[in-house]
Amino acid sequence: WGKDGHYAVCKIAEAYLTEDALVTVKELLPDSAGGELASVCSWADDIKWYYKWHWTSPLHYVDTPDFKCNYQYCRDCHDSAGHKDSCVTGAIFNYTKQHFSAYQGYDPQLKYNLTEALMFLAHFVGDVHQPLHVGFTGDLGGNTITVRWYHRKTNLHHVWDTMIIDSAVKTFYGSDLAIMIQTIQRNITDAWSNDISSWEYCEYNQTVCPNLNATPGSTLEDDYFLSRLPIVEKRLAQGGIRLAAVLNRIFASEVKIA
Ligand code: ADE
Ligand code: ZN
Ligand code: ZN
Repeated sequence: WGKDGHYAVCKIAEAYLTEDALVTVKELLPDSAGGELASVCSWADDIKWYYKWHWTSPLHYVDTPDFKCNYQYCRDCHDSAGHKDSCVTGAIFNYTKQHFSAYQGYDPQLKYNLTEALMFLAHFVGDVHQPLHVGFTGDLGGNTITVRWYHRKTNLHHVWDTMIIDSAVKTFYGSDLAIMIQTIQRNITDAWSNDISSWEYCEYNQTVCPNLNATPGSTLEDDYFLSRLPIVEKRLAQGGIRLAAVLNRIFASEVKIA
């Protein structure tokens, strides 16, 4: 996602944090966050261009080979040089584990920077919900598929990261991202209320496949926008609910005592 997508995921998550999680999150946030998780949820995108942080670039996505939607962690979670666990699901696992080892008693690992770990985790749980961040190596998650979004030349990945949300904010939400977020929050308590617990607990090894078919060179406009926007809004909601669920588990104080 772009800035707005990440902000939305984290804003939605904030509203579902338990008291315990909220207290610890606020302690870990950098001063620049102003006490708001959402304000640092794009940090991982801002830093990846610096030399020091280059190694984090592959942590934003995971792709499957041969245009087949059959993700396997061991086969697919690596960077282009073949380093293992260097992908978005590996990063979520790693940064979750860092928090658990620090807060849940066993093996306190003071060597971890838990502020960074929190900002990475919040970002990558968002990214893994962007359908093209779990894409195909053959088109780099849609990055090599050139399309037009209305009159503007762009690529399919960027359409899903940014353009659909941008257009929705402008067209339906009075150019106010907060209104879009409120609308998604209302859907969570109304239309999707029965689905929330199935989002929080992954009971089955479900595979969700992106079916975003857009022909290279095509122009995407109202038809595409209006049919895909509901998918984007649902993915932002799922990202927020699941980020809250992860943080609530990590920072639950009862487990610490047990
Ligand atoms: N680079 C290669 N694959 C990618 C993906 N799925 N998302 C973002 N950047 C990528
Ligand atoms: Zn992206
Ligand atoms: Zn990212």
